[in-house]
Amino acid sequence: MFQELVHTKAFQSYLEKVDFPPVPQYLYDPIRYILSLSGKRIRPLLVLMGAELFDESIIEQALPASAAIEFFHNFSLIHDDIMDVAPLRRGKPTVHQKWNGNVAILSGDALLIKAYQELAKCPTDKIPALLRLFNATSLEVCEGQQYDMDFEGRASVTESEYIDMIRLKTSVLLGCALQMGAIIAGADDRSQKLLYDFGVNLGIAFQLQDDILDVYGNPKSFGKQVGGDILSNKKTILFVKLQELISLADQKELTYLLGQTIDVEPGKVDKMMDLYAKYDIQTLAIYQKEKFTTIAYEKLSAIQIPSDKKQALFSLADALMYRVR
Ligand code: IPE
Ligand code: IPE
Ligand code: MG
Ligand code: MG
Ligand code: MG
Repeated sequence: MFQELVHTKAFQSYLEKVDFPPVPQYLYDPIRYILSLSGKRIRPLLVLMGAELFDESIIEQALPASAAIEFFHNFSLIHDDIMDVAPLRRGKPTVHQKWNGNVAILSGDALLIKAYQELAKCPTDKIPALLRLFNATSLEVCEGQQYDMDFEGRASVTESEYIDMIRLKTSVLLGCALQMGAIIAGADDRSQKLLYDFGVNLGIAFQLQDDILDVYGNPKSFGKQVGGDILSNKKTILFVKLQELISLADQKELTYLLGQTIDVEPGKVDKMMDLYAKYDIQTLAIYQKEKFTTIAYEKLSAIQIPSDKKQALFSLADALMYRVR
């Protein structure tokens, strides 16, 4: 836990030195804004922990890569909030809400380019491998985001379609963060792959918890609009599990709810929550989350380095399963 704090501090002071010009104000203010909000900084931490696993003396050299990942993540959030029509992010108005849609599009674009500026500062001999991974991952995130939107318009989605969608939109970035650290530390290919797989499975558990919090989170700590996924007909783990178990009679109610907006049916969120409660869906979702965390543990266990070095990552994986924001 102590080492995590050291990493987070090192990342924070690196971030403070990154230059964002004062003008044009509407291009850079939104970037300063989103980066100043209290994100958990999980991904940059994973880059640094991934590097530390194989070479404790290399952390400093992994800072630009950790910034690249966090910039990419924040760019994806600015655009995701436009697509999800989300009013709140990290307890504050979203960029498109505070400014407008066009400002959110362009400041997001600029932040993505800032990510590449950071990548260019990575150790020169590692840049080709880092770029290959980063580019492949970024495209996968776009693919996942497209599936996420496609699924909004569908009446049903299978569990495997759903898992593949969240693997793309969320999990590969966690795997990428860890593997980038491992690349910088000069880890062998087998270890890199196992660490990536640890990250992907951890990322699936992470998105499952995100889906759970979207319905059952405490609005005070969650920082996002609770019920947002229900309002936009997102196909979440809760929805997928409900759909598997629902009776014919209740299916009528579900189909009705999917067809209503909040203006026409003010009880949309509560009525969906009643259905989730009736079939004890939250318990099933928690079970799935634990399953993927266990797979993640197995991947981490298989890496051939002393087990005390892995302890911090095991603890982080455990803490993420029970996160409240
Ligand atoms: C939010 O990510 C987007 C998802 C993939 C669920 P985080 O929960 O890591 O968001 P911040 O950066 O801590 O705000
Ligand atoms: C986020 O999925 C995935 C990306 C931002 C790429 P969500 O739409 O569930 O994330 P939140 O809940 O808005 O943070
Ligand atoms: Mg969203
Ligand atoms: Mg989304
Ligand atoms: Mg979400």
